[in-house]
Amino acid sequence: MTDAHAPGLDGVSVAETRLSRIDGEAGELLVRGYPIDDLAGNATYEETVFLLLNGRLPTAEERADFRAELAAHRGIGEEVLAVLERAAREGKPAMDALRMGVAAATLGVEEQDSETDVRRVIGVFPTIVAAYWRYRQGREPVAPRDDLRHAANYLYMLTGEEASDSRVDGLETYLTAVVDHGLNASTFSARVVVSTESDLVSAATAAVGTLKGPLHGGAPGPVLEMLRDVHESGDSEGYVRETLDAGERLMGFGHRVYRVRDPRAAVLESAATRVSEEREDGDAALFETATAFEATATGILADHVPGRRLETNVEFYTAVLLDGVGIPKELFSATFAVSRVAGWMAHGLEQLDDNRLVRPTARYIGETGRSWTPIEER
Ligand code: ACO
Repeated sequence: MTDAHAPGLDGVSVAETRLSRIDGEAGELLVRGYPIDDLAGNATYEETVFLLLNGRLPTAEERADFRAELAAHRGIGEEVLAVLERAAREGKPAMDALRMGVAAATLGVEEQDSETDVRRVIGVFPTIVAAYWRYRQGREPVAPRDDLRHAANYLYMLTGEEASDSRVDGLETYLTAVVDHGLNASTFSARVVVSTESDLVSAATAAVGTLKGPLHGGAPGPVLEMLRDVHESGDSEGYVRETLDAGERLMGFGHRVYRVRDPRAAVLESAATRVSEEREDGDAALFETATAFEATATGILADHVPGRRLETNVEFYTAVLLDGVGIPKELFSATFAVSRVAGWMAHGLEQLDDNRLVRPTARYIGETGRSWTPIEER
């Protein structure tokens, strides 16, 4: 029997999941059975995480308990702060700092079990990102506050000030909209790590490394730069044509699974509209540029790549929304990780529940039949 050969594993199913379902043709995403727009329009991040982990929405009491459990794991030790300070001083990107911070987060921790690891990892991600950013600004980190919700506390730790309700709501929508998305590359990495019966902190570290790449979670920073360029030049069409003529891809467009517009783009677009309307500086201009650019780019892409519908993916409006919420573009990918870590953890637990070591094969296309040549004869 020949092994099936599937580069990129397109269309290959390697796990069963109850967490999220993507319909790429219909442009639909369900998280634990709930359409993403319903969930992202209503849930707090803590409710979303509870739902992912438990398969149902929490009662008011469960929500309060779970919020407190996550908040109890927000702190990071001096050793982790030292790593982040050094990473910031050396100008390392936020995703590298996050990888280092997560890897160090179990220092001084005596007991490690899956349930605590899940809460610790989810609780600590925003603290690591915010502390790194404060150091990058030449400032001291702001200690987490356990009376604030996950999203509000993240914004508070970044600036040292409580954010407006509109910003917190915008971030909350973002964190819920991107929390889980089938077996994407970083989630797959997490499951591979767990399948070896390694631990969930290691899974989170591997997943951060996977998310970092521009083909996955690294796109929204470049999207913002692109929109700022276009906003300044006022020439969407010129930008798109120049990019495509240079053989480059347009960031924020196209998706491995969706053949229509990514449903999360719609959720994030609505949230970005609200945030831009309520922006304290009244600057809705970037949002307007984005919607106009989307229309122009989608039309040109249809001619450029016939037979493949290339529409906006999640990263496009992520850039506009996170900018409106006040997240610096250097932290866009790390903020994606702040949300997605819950998906990674839920998948890790699901993998453990019914584990089989992930061990695909590779088709060998190298040399055969060679024999050893002593060094003096080479
Ligand atoms: N701009 C221009 N052309 C594109 C784009 C794009 N954004 N995306 C795909 N294409 C073209 C490819 O060049 C290819 O054309 P060809 O057949 O003439 O060579 C065709 O569409 C099919 O592309 P694939 O590489 O098969 O698409 P794949 O499923 O591997 O790629 C991906 C999906 C990586 C997201 C791709 O669309 C891309 O690079 N987009 C830009 C980067 C981006 O936005 N990344 C964020 C993704 S969302 C996320 O992961 C959270």
